[in-house]
Amino acid sequence: MGVYEAVRLTEKVYWVGAIDWSIRDFHGYSTGRGSTYNAYLIMAEKPTLVDTVKKPFLDEMMSRIASVTDPENIEIVVSNHSEMDHTGALPETLRTIKPNKVYASTMGGKALKAHFHWKDDPVDTVSSGDELDLGDMTLKFIETRMLHWPDSMVSYLEEEKVLFSQDGFGMHLAGTRRFDDEIDKGVLEFEARKYYANILMPFSPLVKGLLANLKKMDLEIDLLCPDHGPVWRSRIDWILELWGKWAQQTPCRRASVIYDTMWGSTGAMARAVTQGLVDAGLTVRMMPLRQTHISDIAAELLISSAIVVGSPTINGRIFPSVAECMNYIGGLKPANMVGGAFGSYGWSGEAVKELNGLLEGMKVELADEGFRTMYVPDEDALAASRDLGRSVGKLAMDKCREND
Ligand code: FEO
Repeated sequence: MGVYEAVRLTEKVYWVGAIDWSIRDFHGYSTGRGSTYNAYLIMAEKPTLVDTVKKPFLDEMMSRIASVTDPENIEIVVSNHSEMDHTGALPETLRTIKPNKVYASTMGGKALKAHFHWKDDPVDTVSSGDELDLGDMTLKFIETRMLHWPDSMVSYLEEEKVLFSQDGFGMHLAGTRRFDDEIDKGVLEFEARKYYANILMPFSPLVKGLLANLKKMDLEIDLLCPDHGPVWRSRIDWILELWGKWAQQTPCRRASVIYDTMWGSTGAMARAVTQGLVDAGLTVRMMPLRQTHISDIAAELLISSAIVVGSPTINGRIFPSVAECMNYIGGLKPANMVGGAFGSYGWSGEAVKELNGLLEGMKVELADEGFRTMYVPDEDALAASRDLGRSVGKLAMDKCREND
């Protein structure tokens, strides 16, 4: 039934997912290292499949399952999350293996029915605390609503101390190594942070709640199995701590300068702003929008306390690339930020005022009214841009000291 093999994770649990080496755009999120869609097979007395894969990868998943058992032996399918990267292959999987039961959360049942227009709804729904008897093993369900969809839940296999965490603690990272300790830690930190920033950041208050709940439940976790990227076995505490830190977004000595430029004037101002932030003691990343993907900007914002945005004025508005970026990062709701705006203009110069409004809409504390200059910045304009950087930097440093 194919050339692919399952990877044995524990005595009874196998990875039977798929590797997407070529994906570079995941609904607008740049995935430079590809991704995986993880599905898991529990070889309990009642063989159970936890999640499936994106539709084009059905054969790869079936081949990996077949390397362990005839897929028709699977009695139970659990869908922890309804998004199509985990359920695209679900209808065909159900037609092929004909399980006795399919389980999802209440919201998951509704989502699957709506997605697939099922007339004979095959899903039984479960709630937090429900337990499923797999014969010789038990699967326990914990709903995680809005992490990151209303349907999301995680499943815990008590006997082997395995938590199937759907998108939670995942990352987009293709590879032939399945475990965290087989992969460079810096790559893991970057890809996990980029994933958190782009998928989970708006739900950070709920992430805090989930982490507190897991602590309160005192679950012993030997293996943390997300639906993307590596399985955590050696660095479970580390990824939980990182998620805790990212959910807090506590003030730090790091700034993001985001800008676009038409003829180089706003770009020159951006360099002067950056110098001002450095003067104040911050580490700065300049991100020109034509060279930086918005999903990488999100990853940087997650570890920044200051955001300074520059835009030329075009037709009485901010530049289109800046508008797109502000729309995207505004939706991600970065917290505890200070900031400012700047830009060059030719006639009317509305961009800085518009940017200030957008930043205030994101609850960014502005250091001052920002700075704009007509045409090419002269020495005085560059000095004023540097002063803007210093003002924002000072405010960021003061916030850090309050939290030291
Ligand atoms: Fe990996 Fe929310 O889907």
